[in-house]
Amino acid sequence: MKRQAIMVAAERRVLVGLGARAYEIVIRQGLLAGVGKDLAELKVGRRYAVIADDRVAALFGRQLLAGLAAAGVRAELITFPHGEAAKNMATVAELAGRLARLGLDRGDALIALGGGVTGDICGFLASIYMRGIPFVQVPTSLLAQVDSSVGGKTGVDIPEGKNLLGTFYQPRRVYIDPEVLTVLPEEEMLNGLAEVIKYGVIYDAELFRELAEQRAAVMARDLGVLAAIIERCCQIKAAVVAADEREADLRRILNFGHTLGHAVEAASGYTLAHGLAVAIGMATVGEIAVEQGLWSREDADALRGLLQAYGLPVLVPAGLDRLAIKNYLKTDKKTVAGRPFFVLPTAIGQVIITDQVEEALIDRVLG
Ligand code: GLY
Repeated sequence: MKRQAIMVAAERRVLVGLGARAYEIVIRQGLLAGVGKDLAELKVGRRYAVIADDRVAALFGRQLLAGLAAAGVRAELITFPHGEAAKNMATVAELAGRLARLGLDRGDALIALGGGVTGDICGFLASIYMRGIPFVQVPTSLLAQVDSSVGGKTGVDIPEGKNLLGTFYQPRRVYIDPEVLTVLPEEEMLNGLAEVIKYGVIYDAELFRELAEQRAAVMARDLGVLAAIIERCCQIKAAVVAADEREADLRRILNFGHTLGHAVEAASGYTLAHGLAVAIGMATVGEIAVEQGLWSREDADALRGLLQAYGLPVLVPAGLDRLAIKNYLKTDKKTVAGRPFFVLPTAIGQVIITDQVEEALIDRVLG
């Protein structure tokens, strides 16, 4: 009991070491209500606009705004419709108009309250509104907490593809409250868990082992265990981003399972959730690594077993058009000169990046 109380009270901090643009990720249960107090000290802006979708605003808007008001921080809530369909330039233009009508200027700042879509839209808006104003992230999905709120990738979709417009623009701070995960829908939880397992494979064998051992606690959403896992993922992401902010080299390892995963997701007409597609992508490129003699069958099976233990799929759905998947692979924005690159594991915790994968082998693993 005592140990649990200490874990609950603990605050965890992770530094993203980017020199003059370095920032902290703060992780604490109940932090949502304390963001105002922290911002009153950090003074990112004189006034804030909280950007949230309608669903997240209804769930957490009042709690965040109450904390801001109690700390004497002036803030307005601006909402937009939930869902990936809103992640476009029209939403950005609409939100920018709202900021302008509120009279927000370069001395003010934005707060992204929500999942990956909100973080991407709000970060993009912050990077271009009046040629750039500061922003902070308050991620409310597991995926956003372990991945998209950290590292400064922002963007919106256009009909020709997802995230084709965007910027690298770092937040001033990331506030993570694991408590918000207690109301996260199951599918959203799975989206995040796929990314968590990814970190184990690309960087951290110990995390991979812990995920196997702690499965029951994670699935039961034990907040102490989740906070420790989120911290570890943020440490890995921070180390990778600090070494390669603009994805020239090392950062590409974060795309393990994503090249194929995105193609599978697109070929499904985006009916398959991102995390499920990434899980299929990781298991499938694992087979490529085994076939190329880079990875052991035992490790590949351990990955498949872990994904399945968490309820994630490992096979490309039979009904999906293989040709469509291969066409999407060729148009992926990470593809150079028609050759998709793949992140292939060589051990649990180690990967290489290669564009040397024969089409016949891709055909074989797609089944
Ligand atoms: N989600 C991959 C990255 O931030 O680079």
